[in-house]
Amino acid sequence: MKWSQMRREDIRKHVFEALAKNVNFYDTEIIGIPGSHLDPKVFYADAPFLEDAPFLSALVHNPNHIGCHTSGKSESFFDGTHAIERELIELCSVDILNAEPHSCDGYVTSGGTEANIQAAWIYRNYFIENGANLQNISILCSSDAHYSVYKAANLLGIQIHTVAVDEASRSIDEAVLKQTVESCIERGIVHFIVYANMMTTMFGSVDDPAKYERVLKAAQVDFKMHADGAYGGFFFPFTDEKQHLDFGNPAIDSVTLDAHKMVQAPYGTGIFLARKGWMKYARTQQASYVEGEDTTLIGSRSGANAIAVWMILMTYGYLGWKEKVHVLTYRANQLEAALKDKNIRYFRQPSSNIITMRADDIPKEVAKRFTLVPDNHHQPKWYKVVVMDHVNPEILSALASALPAV
Ligand SMILES: Cc1ncc(COP(=O)(O)O)c(C=O)c1O
Repeated sequence: MKWSQMRREDIRKHVFEALAKNVNFYDTEIIGIPGSHLDPKVFYADAPFLEDAPFLSALVHNPNHIGCHTSGKSESFFDGTHAIERELIELCSVDILNAEPHSCDGYVTSGGTEANIQAAWIYRNYFIENGANLQNISILCSSDAHYSVYKAANLLGIQIHTVAVDEASRSIDEAVLKQTVESCIERGIVHFIVYANMMTTMFGSVDDPAKYERVLKAAQVDFKMHADGAYGGFFFPFTDEKQHLDFGNPAIDSVTLDAHKMVQAPYGTGIFLARKGWMKYARTQQASYVEGEDTTLIGSRSGANAIAVWMILMTYGYLGWKEKVHVLTYRANQLEAALKDKNIRYFRQPSSNIITMRADDIPKEVAKRFTLVPDNHHQPKWYKVVVMDHVNPEILSALASALPAV
């Protein structure tokens, strides 16, 4: 059985009990930490509504979750709320991403960008510890990958090679992938950090990790694979239970999730997950004033973020979350049917809640009225609809009515 729903009162109790186990800056002699509760003149802790507001209370208490709390030591001051983050990491890796219990580490990042950079940082350092150099390591991904992987390459001083996707299917062709890898090898690149997409930003398209595995194994080069589930990680595993972009696939060692997208959590709630044994490649030993040192990219970060994500997932439970995802899929089905009726060209990954339409088929004023997002603001070729909680059937029906048949 996957994770169960928790009653609101039990969620409240759990969070307040965790906060009570943290240091209490209000009435103890804590004088060595450059941290405190929020400014009391502005954020007063005795506001009566806080008793019923565990997330807001966590913000006011302001626990620092610096470091990674799923292995080794952590700052003991915030033990109580670190435990909630550990529960969240275990839930995401085991109940959503098919890992064996207690087989993964992870932490709540500032977002999908940080989680993607953390992955490349770990694998780059691993390759370098094993004899590679900056010139013979490259990121490998499809041309639909998120721009954060370009940031990762730039920051880490490694190369990036992309494989063009087919314009209609948005998937990579194995023969093109093979050519890309062969041309990299000719130029001396023999270590690859692969980003496999679990729903891309613009199309919701999903990569087949087996293509990368087959081509890279046949080429006898070193590779590590990360799944970018920043958009799809809280969606795709609930619509396609046979997917291979999680820890059930031995080729995948780490995953990015992002709760501030589909989960509607506050910004600052990306999640990085990796099989045990990998975080150490991002250890900064000079972080000696931090108990347990630091294997994360960010440094100080708010514990309230982990609490927010945990609260949302516990409120729904596995079945409730699956139902929510299916409601969004159902709404997208309705829009897809209307587009078919009108012969409007579009891409939709089966069961996805993103529908991306050919810009040529969409009048500009309709795109503007419904704030459809283009692939490129200067020369749009595509416009997308992302069916979220607020994108209700009435709005979708109004869009469908506003679109002329092609
Ligand atoms: C697939 C994918 N990866 C990474 C990111 C980056 O996430 P963030 O904006 O949270 O840094 C996004 C954001 O849209 C995304 O869609």
